[in-house]
Amino acid sequence: MTKRILITGGAGFIGNHLVRLFVNSYPEYQIYNLDKLTYAGNLENLKDVESKPNYHFIKGDITDKDEMQNIFKSHFFDAVIHLAAESHVDRSISGPDEFVLTNVVGTVNLLNAARTHWAGKMEGKLFYHVSTDEVYGSLGPKGAFTEFTAYDPRSPYSASKASSDHFVRAFHHTYGIPVVLSNCSNNYGSYQFPEKLIPLMIHNIKYEKPLPVYGKGLNVRDWLWVEDHARAIDTIFHKGKQGETYNIGGNNEWTNIDLVRRLCGIMDTKLGREAGTSEKLITYVQDRAGHDMRYAIDASKIKAELGWEPSIEFDKGFETTIDWYLEHSDWLNHVTSGAYLNYYSEQYADR
Ligand code: NAD
Ligand code: DAU
Repeated sequence: MTKRILITGGAGFIGNHLVRLFVNSYPEYQIYNLDKLTYAGNLENLKDVESKPNYHFIKGDITDKDEMQNIFKSHFFDAVIHLAAESHVDRSISGPDEFVLTNVVGTVNLLNAARTHWAGKMEGKLFYHVSTDEVYGSLGPKGAFTEFTAYDPRSPYSASKASSDHFVRAFHHTYGIPVVLSNCSNNYGSYQFPEKLIPLMIHNIKYEKPLPVYGKGLNVRDWLWVEDHARAIDTIFHKGKQGETYNIGGNNEWTNIDLVRRLCGIMDTKLGREAGTSEKLITYVQDRAGHDMRYAIDASKIKAELGWEPSIEFDKGFETTIDWYLEHSDWLNHVTSGAYLNYYSEQYADR
């Protein structure tokens, strides 16, 4: 069945994988990628699909409510998969306002556009909101976030995502908009902007720059291959129950320091350096303010109800990812130039 699907933030890290998956798997769907192309959005990520007949790009800003109304009016979308966001926790600490505007106001603008243009014809429509495990707060050494864990966001980023989740549920209950939500753990894979831990460390190891590990490096994250996240979104989009939330995770917890050491070891081998060379670059720096200690996802609901689980062992996904960054030095060099470098020096000036 044909569908007109709006994917927001499709030029970003997760978005480009999702757009590629949908464009290639569903030639009968028309995929509209709406993106503002902030520092994190890069159309080069989608070169391989840009000439496909079912792919369309719209340069747009979700914070512009009139623009969102007009785009909905002219495109007759059947569904929205909403990923556009400011996504980096450190940026939210140095400048929270942009996170409120994009993540909260932007989401409400999209919900309002759906409410206006889907009024009286909600049947078959779907607003899918892509969210994060960070809304649940920080865990101690044991336990994992379930879909029933109370929200306890602790950074401006997670507070803005939690707020957007609440608005999505409120529009479902108040106006009957058909919605579904998912909350995912940390993603790794190709095309991730190198302000995030793994591509930043790969870049710095390659160029023998310091590896800035926050605090003692003992914070724990649950890593999932980005293409498995895209598959999970596909599964939930097609099989998820309206009004429901699904947690998505990799069942793959690492302390930051163990992950960075592992990366150093693999990179030494790949770059033909003596074992132990890259570890010497590890530099403990001032901790992130309010740094959440541990995230872990209980993904049993999506497995039991929809049959999704991660497809790839971490060792394989991690090595594939490292190879990708080493083989795509043009991509990495491109995104690490200009504005990114200014940001980088501001971010790390006092660390
Ligand atoms: P990203 O920062 O790589 O990409 C965000 C995209 O949104 C960019 O292409 C950017 O240009 C676009 N965008 C930003 N502001 C916009 C605006 N005002 N209008 C239109 N487009 C705009 O982010 P990501 O890591 O791909 O994350 C995508 C979504 O998934 C986010 O909602 C994030 O909260 C969520 N998420 C991310 C992870 C992760 O590990 N990266 C994990 C769980 C959930
Ligand atoms: O959990 C899902 C979230 O994962 C997403 O919602 C966010 O959009 C995404 O950015 C990610 O958030 P994190 O803050 O966990 O990711 P980040 O890559 O910034 O950091 C991962 C861990 O590594 C975290 O504990 C902070 C630490 N870190 C990060 C950087 C950039 C360092 O020690 N040094 C660094 O230079």
